[in-house]
Amino acid sequence: MYEREMRKCFRLARKGKGQVSPNPLVGCVVLDKSGKEISNGYHRKYGENHAERDALLKLMPDDTAGGTLIVNLEPCNHYGKTPPCSDLIIKYGISRVVISTLDPNPKAYGGKEKLEKAGIEVISGVLREEGEFLNRIFFNNIKNKRAYLVLKTATTIDGKIGTSIGDSKWITSEGARKLSRKFRQEYDAIMTTSATVLADNPQMRHRQKIILDRDCRLDFNLKIFKQGNIILFNGDKKKYNQTIPSNVQIINVKEINSKLDLKEVLKKIYEIGIMSVFIEAGSKLNGEIIKQDLADEIIQFTAPKILNDNTGLSCYSGDSVEKISESKIYELKELKLIYPDYYARYIRKL
Ligand SMILES: NC(=O)c1ccc[n+]([C@@H]2O[C@H](COP(=O)([O-])OP(=O)(O)OC[C@H]3O[C@@H](n4cnc5c(N)ncnc54)[C@H](OP(=O)(O)O)[C@@H]3O)[C@@H](O)[C@H]2O)c1
Repeated sequence: MYEREMRKCFRLARKGKGQVSPNPLVGCVVLDKSGKEISNGYHRKYGENHAERDALLKLMPDDTAGGTLIVNLEPCNHYGKTPPCSDLIIKYGISRVVISTLDPNPKAYGGKEKLEKAGIEVISGVLREEGEFLNRIFFNNIKNKRAYLVLKTATTIDGKIGTSIGDSKWITSEGARKLSRKFRQEYDAIMTTSATVLADNPQMRHRQKIILDRDCRLDFNLKIFKQGNIILFNGDKKKYNQTIPSNVQIINVKEINSKLDLKEVLKKIYEIGIMSVFIEAGSKLNGEIIKQDLADEIIQFTAPKILNDNTGLSCYSGDSVEKISESKIYELKELKLIYPDYYARYIRKL
């Protein structure tokens, strides 16, 4: 029941991708008492109206009396940037509210109880799994108290990201690269390493970039510094002997065995308010992220090419497991052809 409308809520909610962080993606559909859709809305941007408010404010309470409101996340019950949506729903005389997922945020919690106390019928759990998948960044942030990490790679069929002499341009087609650049914008920040920046001198357009540069090896004339805000994570031993540009922020973290402490890096990122990170790095950092079980999601583009090269750069390097039963397991969630390449989206299975 109400699955069709809930799917519409998901579609509306997705329009807010890349704009609403740290809030969840939310869409809303309003039906009048005869069951006809009379309005819809979504959360467009952080600080702006929640989806329910966006949909209801296009109407008058007379239109909605006895109607049904469908929304993918439990209506909030707190004063944040906007007043509680639960109060507005009550004011508009809605008699039934249909929810996909309950809100785990302790600050916003309690909308369902408030509505029920006001005599509104609440149906929850409609397409719950899809609702959880849609807001996986939000749910993971609340559960793990760290940024959601997406590892993006572009490989050959034999899992290489470069040849033995370091040639890596380009493995995938222009179409795949364009889609990858679009995905990038859906996350609060992108992360790479000084090794990748020194090898490729990429621009990596994004409003917020994070670079792991333990030994302060980067020159601020490299292309990556020309645009966006940049956070550089350094170790505790070296300093830059160049003037730090105004768009660059330096954060020092301790080193463990001559490597930056990645968990500390992630903690600092979350404290700054970065809720999701799209990692575009080489085999060493990729391997380390996998080894430490930090990748919540992998987006792997694969080109129909084979390097057939034992010494080429593997997508993930580092300690290998000896038994298949010890491998890290991911769940395939999406598979799409971007001819002549394809991409697969995997979620960490815990
Ligand atoms: N096809 C693709 O998807 C793709 C994407 C990006 C890059 N690439 C290619 O990958 C190549 C670079 O690969 P790479 O493996 O040499 O470099 P990488 O994985 O990008 O970076 C490795 C460096 O990351 C730093 N790092 C910081 N903290 C770390 C930690 N806790 N654990 C591990 N590393 C940490 C280390 O630098 P410090 O020694 O300074 O600590 C390490 O040397 C380039 O040729 C590039 O073209 C391919």
